[in-house]
Amino acid sequence: MEKLKFLIVLFLSTFQAAFSITDGLLPNGDFEHGPKPSQLKGSEVVGTDAIPNWTVSGFVEYIKSGQKQGDMLLIVPEGAFAVRLGNEASIKQKVNFTKGSFYSITFSAARTCAQEEKLNVSVVPTTEDADWGVIPIQTMYGSNGWESFACGFRADFPQGEIVIHNPGVAEDPACGPLIDSVALRVLNPPKRTRANLLKNGNFEEGPYVFPKASWGVLIPPHIEDSHSPLPGWIVESLKAVKYIDSNHFSVPEGQRAIELVAGKESALAQVVITTIGKTYDLTFAVGDANNACEGSMIVEAFAGRDSVQVSYQSKGKGGFIRGKLRFKAVSTRTRVRFLSTFYTMKNDNSGSLCGPVLDDVKLLSVRYPSPHA
Ligand SMILES: *[C@@H]1O[C@H](CO)[C@@H](O)[C@H](O)[C@H]1NC(C)=O
Ligand SMILES: *[C@@H]1O[C@H](CO)[C@@H](O)[C@H](O)[C@H]1NC(C)=O
Ligand SMILES: *[C@@H]1O[C@H](CO)[C@@H](O)[C@H](O)[C@H]1NC(C)=O
Repeated sequence: MEKLKFLIVLFLSTFQAAFSITDGLLPNGDFEHGPKPSQLKGSEVVGTDAIPNWTVSGFVEYIKSGQKQGDMLLIVPEGAFAVRLGNEASIKQKVNFTKGSFYSITFSAARTCAQEEKLNVSVVPTTEDADWGVIPIQTMYGSNGWESFACGFRADFPQGEIVIHNPGVAEDPACGPLIDSVALRVLNPPKRTRANLLKNGNFEEGPYVFPKASWGVLIPPHIEDSHSPLPGWIVESLKAVKYIDSNHFSVPEGQRAIELVAGKESALAQVVITTIGKTYDLTFAVGDANNACEGSMIVEAFAGRDSVQVSYQSKGKGGFIRGKLRFKAVSTRTRVRFLSTFYTMKNDNSGSLCGPVLDDVKLLSVRYPSPHA
């Protein structure tokens, strides 16, 4: 048995060295393998190669779960170790890619002192339209201080470096975000089908979700939809939407859905090719994630100039209803958008923002619309 295990491990590691990662943690992506005692000065990491598989620069700390910082007990939800990036510090790792493929990076982070901590996540070398994004580390949505974030990019080279950098300039060097669990996933480009004119309408294709992370993955707004970690969709406006999985949440259809957590400050959109004068039905599910998010919710759906408001009364225990918008296309490109009218807060005293769940979005042309429908 032991021998078999060893062979499997050997096989897996050979496999990993020869091919690029397609779905899961980067090597030592959860930082469970740490520096040798001689490479630590207190919690400060000494030497650029001290953390296996990573290159660090600047003031980087190796944090053990349960470690204290002032009055604050630092917790690490996934495993026992994490890193903290001080001002201008970074961690990076070389990764093999399939050139031309789209990827998403998911990482978990926690804010420590400053109200506004940020991380610059980039993939170098990049083309001129640099693949980087500055992600604000907000903690308005989770309950334990940790959040997972996703961003997307296209691999323009067979090899690159994933860089996570803290561009902050906090006064206290012990400040700066904690990072745990960095994963990569290849995104399959979704296609329109005869059953749905929208791409990825059920949100099944999206960023990697950590099996143990029960708080979902925040998808920050993206300017370019081609780099969205949620293929087909653009997160508009200022704030993130949350990607949720059926292992931890109630999801109307399949394994994945979107929770609209930021009221009117975030919207999810897709531009679809339509025929002027044709009638279309936009159908979708509106529900709640079974996460103590209670109250009256409204999801507004837009298609070109038309819109509908779908009210849903949430008891915070899961469930959903169906919404529908019938419209006549007035353009060859119709923007389909969804947003939540209200902000909602969880009723668990955490003060976390939450919202209605959107799933199973379909767009179909109606061949013989009855004139009174
Ligand atoms: C990347 O690919 C090269 C060969 O093309 C290989 O030598 C190297 O070990 C790979 N690196 C990783 C991190 O898998
Ligand atoms: C990760 O680091 C370990 C320990 O240094 C090493 O044995 C392994 O080959 C590294 N993995 C990759 C993919 O580079
Ligand atoms: C983010 O990092 C990339 C490359 O690592 C760099 O080109 C870019 O200027 C950085 N952006 C900010 C705002 O720090």
